[in-house]
Order: sequence, then C-alpha cells, then structure tokens
Amino acid sequence: MKETKKQAVKNQTVLVLDFGGQYKELIARRVRECKVHSQILAGSTPIEKIKELDPIGIILTGGPHSVYEEGSPHASKELFELGIPILGICYGMHLMAYTLGGKVKSCSVSEYGTINATLDDMDCVLFKGLNPNAVTLMSHGDRVYTMPRGFKATAHTQDCPIAAMYNESKKLYAVQFHPEVERTKQGKKLLHNFLYKVCKAKGDYTIDDFIQRELVRIREQVGDKQVVLGLSGGVDSSVCAAILEKAIPNQLTCIFVDHGMMRKNEGDEIERAFAGKSLNFVRVNAEERFLSKLEGVSDPERKRKIIGAEFVRVFEEESAKFAGSFLAQGTIYPDVVESGLTTGAVIKSHHNVGGLPKDTKFIGLVEPLRSLFKDEVRELGRKLGLDETLVARQPFPGPGLAVRCIGAITKERLDILRDADYIFREELAKANLNYGQFFAVLTNMRTVGVMGDGRTYNYVLGLRAVITSDFMTCEYAHIPYPVLDVVSSRIVNEVQGVSRVVYDITGKPPATIEWE
Ligand code: XMP
Repeated sequence: MKETKKQAVKNQTVLVLDFGGQYKELIARRVRECKVHSQILAGSTPIEKIKELDPIGIILTGGPHSVYEEGSPHASKELFELGIPILGICYGMHLMAYTLGGKVKSCSVSEYGTINATLDDMDCVLFKGLNPNAVTLMSHGDRVYTMPRGFKATAHTQDCPIAAMYNESKKLYAVQFHPEVERTKQGKKLLHNFLYKVCKAKGDYTIDDFIQRELVRIREQVGDKQVVLGLSGGVDSSVCAAILEKAIPNQLTCIFVDHGMMRKNEGDEIERAFAGKSLNFVRVNAEERFLSKLEGVSDPERKRKIIGAEFVRVFEEESAKFAGSFLAQGTIYPDVVESGLTTGAVIKSHHNVGGLPKDTKFIGLVEPLRSLFKDEVRELGRKLGLDETLVARQPFPGPGLAVRCIGAITKERLDILRDADYIFREELAKANLNYGQFFAVLTNMRTVGVMGDGRTYNYVLGLRAVITSDFMTCEYAHIPYPVLDVVSSRIVNEVQGVSRVVYDITGKPPATIEWE
C-alpha cells in the first residue's frame, strides 16, 4: 500500500493554465495521450499554488482577449522566472511576449483557418523530426510584433512573421498556431517534443497506475461503509460501478431507474451486464410512473424537466433505504471543468459536482472518475473487463427516447420507435457499418400510404446517422443506398404504425444531432 502511495506522489504533472481558450481540455487530453498527467487551472492561479504542485511544465492556452486591452487576463513575470518550461499557445504566446517586454498588436491581416507555416529554425528542439513545411490551424487577430529580449523567431507564415519563438536558456517556447487540434498536422509531435525534450517527461501516467492508486484511495475513503450508485447503463456510470466493485466488493448497491424510455432490450442488457458481480443491483421499473407524468406533454423542454424531476424523486425514494452510505457518481473531468471548479468559468453545472447538498442523508461523495477524460474512462472500462458494448456505447440522452419521440409520449409510440430503431441498428451491424451516433426518430407527422390494396395513414419515421468524434459538430453519414433500402423496407413492413421513412441529411451546425 505504501508503495502505491509513493507512486501517486511521483506522477509528473503538466499544468494547463486557462486564459479562456476553447481548447483547454483538448490540450490537457493531448498531454495525457503522451502519458503525462495534466491538470487544468485558471490562468490567475497564484504562483505559490503553482510551485506547490511542482509541475514539470506549463502550457498557456489561447483565449479570446487582446493582451493589451484593459481587463484582459494577465500573468505575473514571476511565472516565467520559475525555471519551469513553458509553452504559450496563441494568446499564451502573446502573454509571454507582452509580460516579458515584447510588443503585441492587432494584425494587418488576421489568420483564421488552415494556414501554411514555415518552420525556419530546425535546431529548435520543439521542431525535432518535423517537416519544415507545416500545415497549421490559426485563429488570431493579434500577433507578436517585437519579441522580448533573448527570444528568437522560429517560424513564419505569409502574414505572420513571428509564428513561433523561443528562449532556449529560459526554456520558454511559444507558437501562434494551435498544436492541439487535428488540423495542425504535426501538432502532436510538437507537443511530444515539448513534453519529452524540454520538460524531460518520463511518461509515467498510465491507466494501470491510475487503477492501483484509485483502488487504494476508494478503500481509504469508504472504509467499511456502504456505497450507493445511480446506474444508467451509460459509459461513465458503468465504469464507475466496475471500479467500485473491484475496490469494495459487496459494499456497493447500484440503483438502475428504468424510466421506460430505454432502447429495445436495453434495460435487460444492463441488468445482465451486472448480474453475477459482487454488488447489489436494484432495478426500479418506473415506466408507468414516468408515462403518467408525461401524459399530454409535447413540449421538449417540459418533457426533459418532468423526466429529470421524476428521476430524482424515484432515486431519492429508493436510496432513502441506504441512509448513512456514501453516494457514488460517475462524474468525469470535463464535468468538473465545465462546472467551473478548476478555472472559475462555469459552462454548465453538473449534478452534485460541487459537493452534496446540506440536508443530504449521504455521508459523502465518491467520484472515482473525476480526473479522467472520456477516452480514458473507456480505456479504464476495458482494463476492468467491461463488455465492449458498454464501453463503446454511443451517447444516449438522460431522458432517453423521450427526446426522439416527437410530440406526445405513449407506450404505443415508444414501442414503434423502439422496433424501428432496433431494425436500423441491426441492419447497420449486418452491413458492418459503424458511425459516431445513429438512431431512429418518431415524428408526430402522419401521411398517407398504400399497403396491399388499402390506404394507410401512419407516422413518418426519421433515421439519423452522423460522423463525429466530439458530438459538438457532425456530418451526416453517407449510408449506402442498398442498406437504406433494406432498412426502409423492413421498417415499413415489420413495424405497424410507420408508413414512410426519411433520412436526415443535415450536419451540425446548422442542425443538432438529436431532433427533439
Ligand atoms: P445535440 O442534439 O445537442 O446533442 O447535438 C449533442 C450530443 O449530446 C447528446 N445529448 C445528451 N446527452 N444527456 C446526455 O447525456 C442529455 O440530456 C442529452 N441530450 C443530448 C446527444 O445524443 C448528442 O450525442
């Protein structure tokens, strides 16, 4: 046990100081992909705190401000004198230049999008192994005009003469482009160089190491108490259950509230996945309760609110039997960051992420995945032996099929949707096709059809399949026509209530992934 604790202390860390850039999480993820632990903190974090954390390197993010504008976030000169290697990206580069006595002004020609850059100084350690002709993503209206003393320019573009700079003896590096995004072709290699050649990373951050440390931490926190977890069957709560079961077998109760709006067979599949494990699995079949609350409701936001509130009520009723236990949650790192707990900037509040309410009957929160990104959660799930169908599961809205059943929600309409959705998934699997997300949507529009010799008047069903990795943007998938033919014909023939099938050919933006 002592050995494991020592390892936890030894993990090298790179701090990502946030200056309001949209890519802070991406930067932190890229660092971890290089097997170096990363942590996101506000750009205003006091120097004392930074010293205490003893990072091997610091990355300054981009941001929407102009460094010379009043009220823009600044850094102290001391930060650059700590002797810790620093990489400034975009606004982070401006900040480095400005703080150390250089000049930053607005560009005569702004650069947005994919821009060719020339790496001029191939002796710069950041560029080792890179091609001097670089394709980069730029997004800036300001640039460095005069570098601080001791700095050297290392790259340029047509409109930006100082697209990268460094001061080798002070271990300060900066790039105007964004090495963290895929569109900067050699960005990963550049970050790897910064971590391994400048910060001297050892690559000591691995999931195996995480598991070891976390098992000890959970056991220490929980002792001989019981833990209750709300299990939805999604990736986060499933992996959370798996690590808790490994850490504290027979001290865990998973409560699965089946609101009746899961996909076909899904409730049973979730139950099966956790059967035979050393935990207490409670399935609450609350379909009727939810459907009666939703009767006559068509407005998507009201549906969401009703389902959310009812969910909390059912879970509270059920978990009341476990007063004096810990509450476990599958909170992941982006939830923590979005709740503003690392940087102070709230994007979206997440349930209980800031702590339990005062009047709670639980004695504390257990959040084993709190420091992990989604892809790390998946990797952890695989290591813990969870089935691939659970680990690689597509995102599924909390309110379930209510979101995909436009208009009134009834059991009959949900069953139509479930059957059609099942056929769609079955046919894509048969054709060996897999996309970021795919599902059926039952519209509230009915149209005339003809089947046999009779006229029908049934629902229009939508199919959606999208290619996406971040679920913030997507393109529609080009499903081959023969596959669409089979899906359409099977749905109309096998699912009573559908007379017409349409395929959604809109990207996001302008559309969203879900229809609602
Ligand atoms: P939209 O429709 O906004 O969805 O493009 C983006 C992604 O989020 C998923 N989604 C949800 N996920 N709870 C979730 O955990 C929700 O309430 C929710 N609503 C949408 C959606 O499936 C897509 O992947």
